[in-house]
Amino acid sequence: MASVVEIHRVSKTFGTFAALGPVDLEIRAGEIFALLGPNGAGKTTLISIVAGLLRATTGTVRVLGKDVVRDYRDTRRAIGLVPQEINFDPFFSVEEALRFQAGYFGVRLAEERLLELLTALDLLDKRHTGSRALSGGMKRRLLIGKALVHEPKVLFLDEPTAGVDVELRRSLWSYVRTLRDRGTTIVLTTHYLEEAEELADRIGVIDRGRLLVVEEKEALLRRHGAKLLRLVLSGPVAALPPELVRLGARLDEGGGAIVVEATGDATFGAVLAAAAAAGLPPKDVETRRTTLEDVFVQLLAEGHAPAGAGAAARAAAGGPGAGGRP
Ligand SMILES: Nc1ncnc2c1ncn2[C@@H]1O[C@H](COP(=O)(O)OP(=O)(O)OP(=O)(O)O)[C@@H](O)[C@H]1O
Ligand SMILES: [Mg+2]
Repeated sequence: MASVVEIHRVSKTFGTFAALGPVDLEIRAGEIFALLGPNGAGKTTLISIVAGLLRATTGTVRVLGKDVVRDYRDTRRAIGLVPQEINFDPFFSVEEALRFQAGYFGVRLAEERLLELLTALDLLDKRHTGSRALSGGMKRRLLIGKALVHEPKVLFLDEPTAGVDVELRRSLWSYVRTLRDRGTTIVLTTHYLEEAEELADRIGVIDRGRLLVVEEKEALLRRHGAKLLRLVLSGPVAALPPELVRLGARLDEGGGAIVVEATGDATFGAVLAAAAAAGLPPKDVETRRTTLEDVFVQLLAEGHAPAGAGAAARAAAGGPGAGGRP
């Protein structure tokens, strides 16, 4: 599949602080790519570099084959960006904000297109409302509309649904899929892992400026086991017996539970037997499907551990201070 965005050895340093990279990443035509990572990981920095808002310290970025620095005009036209921060002129109405943005790109916003956007973003009845009078979620929806007026080939959504209510979040998801089906390539950051799980074709996990993994969502979930077993203990334990660590188990809930992903039929039985043998009979046993959130927590824990300490990282993944929640 053709690459729409090619990020090559891109790094960013603020003063002496190395915020990003070097990062290599290709975004494929027509995919929804979710870039996930904790606060401060470098997601907005990377997106800003691709969108031409920030200059990389090293490396190059190409969008549709054009360099984002040298061919700035072309790449800017190809990209739509929904920024993380709400930043628009409060004196414009919703319609004016959209028309002004279209004008900025030299596009005439046809009535039909305006209505489509307003409908998709559920802002039809706010068409003439001043943007200052919009609620937080409505402002975010207007930002999405602004990013779409010039029908960009690549759309960057930096936490598009932060503060958006559940119902509208779902309707935005379906609109994002519609855009993808029409050929728009979409790069999304989100702290709602359920959102990435729902939408993404591929996932990238970034932490402290480093890409830890880039993989098809389905493959990533499969690789981490399709099912999760949780043994709730009668009291917290400080460390797992080696036999359980060997089986891929880790502690969760501050040591009050043992969690393990099933990779084969034998795992669950072996874990139950090992827990009993170690004098840790479970008070309760739950199984459920592995979610992207489980995988994310584990990847970050492994990323924080020194190289080669995979097993220890797994054991610590759910422990106190692992701080894997996005
Ligand atoms: N203009 C700047 N000057 C100095 N440091 C910056 C600047 N912009 C970002 N940083 C730092 O770079 C790192 C990455 O920030 P970035 O905004 O890319 O994170 P993020 O992954 O988008 O986080 P979040 O999930 O909170 O939005 C952070 O440590 C941040 O403090
Ligand atoms: Mg950010």
